[in-house]
Amino acid sequence: MINISDELKSLVDGVSYPWSNLANASALIFDSMTDLNWAGFYIMHDGKLRLGPFQGKIACTEIAVGKGVCGTAVQKDETQVVPDVHKFPGHIACDSASNSEIVIPIHKDGAVYGVLDIDSVAFDRFSEEDRKELEKCVKILEAVI
Ligand code: SME
Repeated sequence: MINISDELKSLVDGVSYPWSNLANASALIFDSMTDLNWAGFYIMHDGKLRLGPFQGKIACTEIAVGKGVCGTAVQKDETQVVPDVHKFPGHIACDSASNSEIVIPIHKDGAVYGVLDIDSVAFDRFSEEDRKELEKCVKILEAVI
């Protein structure tokens, strides 16, 4: 796993507008990791996850808490690493090419602000090392949203 977090830190340094940071973060992750077909954010709004900045194919605009991998990550407030999405009950297939996924909750003021969602066309794409590096990226973003 390459070190994305250092590059992300310099990318968001001094940028106060959250959407710009989320937009550039999705582009950096999408460009830096192999075999990805989607990388982006869903943001909590009125009790639901709403589509935010992303790279990839057209995606679902709303996800209820507890639904899909994203809604489950919010409900459990835990990173979800899914080696095979076809075996994840209730997986929401925005892009039928997705085979594995990682979703990391993002926090602000002690509450879940949204999630970082990354899909891959490869099965079992996301290692423990990837998880740690991406969670480091989320920590950096939590300071600039
Ligand atoms: N697969 C996600 C939905 C979002 S798409 O991956 C962009 C889920 O099950 O929550």
